[in-house]
Amino acid sequence: MPSLFRLAIASVASLFSYDILPHYTQYESPGLAQHCANVPPISQAEFEGRQNSLATTLLQLGASAYITESGVNSQYFANFSLSDWKLSERPLLLIIAPVQNESGALPEVTILTPKFEHLRATGLPVPPFRGTKVRYVDWAEDEDPYQVAIQAIGRQSDSRNETIFVDSGIRKFIVDGLQQAAPGIRIASAPPEITSFRERKSKHELEIMKCANEATVLAIRMVHKNVRFGMRESQVRGMLASALSEVGLKNGGCLTLFGANIPLEHRQLWDIVRDVQEAALQAAKAGNLTRHPDEVARHEFRLRNLDQYFTHRLGHGIGIDGHERPYLRGRSNDVIRTGHTFSNEPGVYIEGKVGIRLEDCFYIDESGLPVYFTAGVGGPPDSPWST
Ligand SMILES: *[C@@H]1O[C@H](CO)[C@@H](O)[C@H](O)[C@H]1NC(C)=O
Ligand SMILES: *[C@@H]1O[C@H](CO)[C@@H](O)[C@H](O)[C@H]1NC(C)=O
Ligand SMILES: *[C@@H]1O[C@H](CO)[C@@H](O)[C@H](O)[C@H]1NC(C)=O
Ligand SMILES: *[C@@H]1O[C@H](CO)[C@@H](O)[C@H](O)[C@H]1NC(C)=O
Repeated sequence: MPSLFRLAIASVASLFSYDILPHYTQYESPGLAQHCANVPPISQAEFEGRQNSLATTLLQLGASAYITESGVNSQYFANFSLSDWKLSERPLLLIIAPVQNESGALPEVTILTPKFEHLRATGLPVPPFRGTKVRYVDWAEDEDPYQVAIQAIGRQSDSRNETIFVDSGIRKFIVDGLQQAAPGIRIASAPPEITSFRERKSKHELEIMKCANEATVLAIRMVHKNVRFGMRESQVRGMLASALSEVGLKNGGCLTLFGANIPLEHRQLWDIVRDVQEAALQAAKAGNLTRHPDEVARHEFRLRNLDQYFTHRLGHGIGIDGHERPYLRGRSNDVIRTGHTFSNEPGVYIEGKVGIRLEDCFYIDESGLPVYFTAGVGGPPDSPWST
């Protein structure tokens, strides 16, 4: 039986037969728990490589340091994020500065920490660069943390003609504080030469994302097969969350709705959105501008008089951050490159009637072609009924 139809009946059935039907809490999950077992986490050597590339680029750009707070960029360069260190009014900063040696640049990794939290800060899982120690620099409550930061990278309050790059998401009072501590130094958001490190994924980073995407699709398929009459939406949500956590995917969930009314137009719209999504995918090749697949999707909807209902951009970059640069949106002039990762999520939303969005993530492979992260397990479904 078509599964959406089955869902629809299930909700009706539950109205009158809830008490006599069994409650399903059991489901089979063949191999799901092991699905990501062969994909190791980011290694020490990879962190060193990221830090080293940053140092080399800073040197090339003539910059004295890169500074970020706890967040996605500290996760990328130094293996700690908001779950390890929450933001407060007292700055804890990751500072990476290039140290020039005879053959190139080496990164010097410093954590600027509130002094009374020194012990907790040294517990952060920051990988040291090739056996060198991570340097912890404390600022006491009666000191200016930003003057301490400027001194920590060997600069003075009267330093001139230098640039410090900061994570563009760093809080404004930190930029102001640094600027006041060294008025002659330019404090600027990290340029594309630096932000592109995290945007363009390595082979191993792609493997990690593949495993997360595949496991998600496998979990959905498995839950789909185990939906029974009499179940509640919340039970289905619970099954998916536990299937995802079995693979080690955190904060998993799903929007589960059973409805008795699934008219034919919904099904037809689903097919249209799937066709548009496929056309958009084919327009996302290395060398194309990021606005191109968005334009193609919009054009395809226009041919069917549906473009006014596609009210958001086609997609976004995805990685450590759920939404990140570059974006697949109109007027954007970023160029699609190997290693980029995007969501492909066209949708049609007719207010008061129906809304359908299909969202699947893909990457640009070494030959410059777009490939769905789930290609290894059959890719996105070609029908809403497929399991
Ligand atoms: C990164 O941090 C995690 C803990 O969050 C730790 O288990 C892992 O070993 C660290 N990785 C490296 C390369 O130090
Ligand atoms: C200088 O830097 C290069 C590359 O960054 C590194 O391979 C080399 O070991 C460094 N030399 C010294 C003496 O630290
Ligand atoms: C400022 O820095 C630039 C680039 O690093 C350099 O070419 C220039 O000579 C510097 N000017 C002064 C006054 O130091
Ligand atoms: C961009 O995508 C289209 C297909 O939509 C293709 O014809 C074109 O050659 C691509 N490349 C560039 C560099 O624009």
